[in-house]
Amino acid sequence: MTIDNDKDLRGILRIGQICGQALQHMLAYIQPGMTTAELDAIGAAFLKEHSARSAPILAYKFPGCTCISLNDEAAHGIPGKRVIQPGDIINVDVSAELEGYWGDTGASALVPPFNPDYERLCSFTRDALTEAIKTARAGQPINRVGIAVEAVARRGGYAIIRELTGHGVGRHIHEPPNVPNFYNKHYKQTFEDGMVLTIEPFLTPGKGRVFTESDGWTLRTIDGAVAAQYEHTVIIDGDTPILATAA
Ligand code: CO
Ligand code: CO
Repeated sequence: MTIDNDKDLRGILRIGQICGQALQHMLAYIQPGMTTAELDAIGAAFLKEHSARSAPILAYKFPGCTCISLNDEAAHGIPGKRVIQPGDIINVDVSAELEGYWGDTGASALVPPFNPDYERLCSFTRDALTEAIKTARAGQPINRVGIAVEAVARRGGYAIIRELTGHGVGRHIHEPPNVPNFYNKHYKQTFEDGMVLTIEPFLTPGKGRVFTESDGWTLRTIDGAVAAQYEHTVIIDGDTPILATAA
């Protein structure tokens, strides 16, 4: 969506903050031995407490309140009986709706004892998000995001999972425009003031190809390599985007 009044701005900032806080709340609870369903329940309770509704359930009838993806699961992992193990890399993605406004945020985290390779992957993926957000300026090509993510991935020796992209958000969970994590010379869309969109690079030490599991949701890497993602919802505002999902 494109924000053009104060009510819209307040609505996006409110749901963005709830998503950001729900994510931080869930990350703080992660520990080995816990199931992903238990972690999801913590997020569900937080959203309920703030009168927000799970976007994956509302928009797609997803079988979970949040997406929780472990190790070689890149995205859209279904919370369930799977037990979080020491040394895992875990991605939590929280998207939700309140009063017609939608927000979306995600992060990867490490379960102790930390695997140094996973730490490095997370650090580069976080950098990719930071660098990509800096490019989100009114009038600039959205391709700048892809250029920024590609530069960080190249520096780290990582592949980008190209099937997964950022997207418009605000009046629904997935709206135009697409925000690819790679440069595409045919893509001419530019950032415009008031646009609400997500930026969410996915990096992996593998080849970067994913497939959908037999459960119909989980996106897993073909080569079994782990993946990391960090995501924020941002509002385009001149040269300095507003981070809507900051906790
Ligand atoms: Co998300
Ligand atoms: Co998203």
